Amino acid sequence: MTDWRRHPLCGPEPIPSAFWGPEAFNPEAWRELVPLFSPEAEIAAILDALGDASDVVDVGGGTGMITQAVARRAPVLVIEPSAAQRDHLPAGITAREGRIEALPLPDHAYDAALATWVLQYTDDPLRAVTELARVSRRRVVIVQGAPDNDLIELWNIEAAIAGVPHAHHGYLLANAAEILERDGFAVELTRVHVAVPSPAGAYALADIFARMHYWQHPKLAAMIAAIEPVIAKRLAANGHVTDDAVVLAARR
Ligand SMILES: C[S@@+](CC[C@H](N)C(=O)[O-])C[C@H]1O[C@@H](n2cnc3c(N)ncnc32)[C@H](O)[C@@H]1O
Repeated sequence: MTDWRRHPLCGPEPIPSAFWGPEAFNPEAWRELVPLFSPEAEIAAILDALGDASDVVDVGGGTGMITQAVARRAPVLVIEPSAAQRDHLPAGITAREGRIEALPLPDHAYDAALATWVLQYTDDPLRAVTELARVSRRRVVIVQGAPDNDLIELWNIEAAIAGVPHAHHGYLLANAAEILERDGFAVELTRVHVAVPSPAGAYALADIFARMHYWQHPKLAAMIAAIEPVIAKRLAANGHVTDDAVVLAARR
């Protein structure tokens, strides 16, 4: 068995002992953020991890950025709690209302269960992973942030201003890997690069990003002011901020 708590893609050590969330999610700001992503490498790694799956349930599929690519390979059902997100799915994608903590599906209903950038928004991410394993016949694919992901660093600056604990996606990945291994899956982690350029400049990205989680927070302006210079530095150095991901591929 792998010691996932010491795996470099689950870092930095030490992994917290409890979940920091759930984080809040604003569908309107998400729709402004999506066109800025360059998710080609992430999509390629997800398709690789799904392999020859004959059908896929995409839980928290959102507005379908990833779902569309998966749907070109195999039939997909999206399970998504947000009506605002479901309303913006591309034509031809079937969606149902539901939450990852209690999926409205029987055991082994789909060949593969997929959840990308969802666990941090759930009430109980460990229960969520158990649910993905329950509804899957052969594969589970989970995507969360890499240890040095810029957007998670920005979220943590906002969290400090809000006075809430820091995010740590290694906590989600290590716990997911342990749960899936115990359930008989073989697990692999792969890192992928995701760039987020901001043609409209640092302020535009800071404004969208802070509103994505803290749109109703009284300290929203302070959050934008705190993350804008960090974004400006990364844009000046690299032309983008990163949203580098870890793809967890589990098969049985
Ligand atoms: C950051 S978006 C990711 C969307 C898509 N998976 C992607 O990677 O492009 C997070 C999605 O998780 C959904 N979500 C939030 N809480 C959820 C829950 N408890 N169960 C399932 N999905 C949830 C949100 O509505 C949103 O669509």
